[in-house]
Amino acid sequence: MANLMKYPSPLFLFMSFALVFPSLCAPEDQITSCLTTHDINNFTRLPSTKKDDDSKTYYKILDFSIQNLRFTEPTIAKPLAIILPGSLDELVKSVICCREGLLEIRVRCGGHSYEGTSSVANDGAPFVIIDMMNLNKVSVHLATETAWVEGGATLALRLPWDLALAYNYLISN
Ligand SMILES: *[C@@H]1O[C@H](CO)[C@@H](O)[C@H](O)[C@H]1NC(C)=O
Repeated sequence: MANLMKYPSPLFLFMSFALVFPSLCAPEDQITSCLTTHDINNFTRLPSTKKDDDSKTYYKILDFSIQNLRFTEPTIAKPLAIILPGSLDELVKSVICCREGLLEIRVRCGGHSYEGTSSVANDGAPFVIIDMMNLNKVSVHLATETAWVEGGATLALRLPWDLALAYNYLISN
């Protein structure tokens, strides 16, 4: 037993290393590798310069639905990454990756918060935007007269269309 304490076992060393390692790698690298490991490919990282193509994609997606233009200004903190999950499973894994990287999460549906709650972190903490635009399904259950609307379904896009279809179905039957 005394020997064990004096010469830590390789397993103990490995575990210590595993615990320390996450803090050694940059949060944006960590989240990228976590997302890629989970097969989530629709995300974009904060670019290091404003000039290349990656940067164009990033700012196009970032600014796409910011309704209060004050939050597009360069002095406002930008998310380390913007993730666009395409399924519930990807959404869950995106949240897990953010939590593993100790990153705050801003969920953006239509980006309508004028206080910027869906696009900035006021406390200066590193954060990630999870944009729901690809989760925009509307399913109408006629039997129970209920409708499930995913967070990214915006009024301008799918919602009126799907509800109108269901309504027409109801009144013509
Ligand atoms: C990610 O989602 C956006 C918005 O729907 C879409 O335009 C884009 O093609 C997707 N990119 C990938 C790599 O799937």
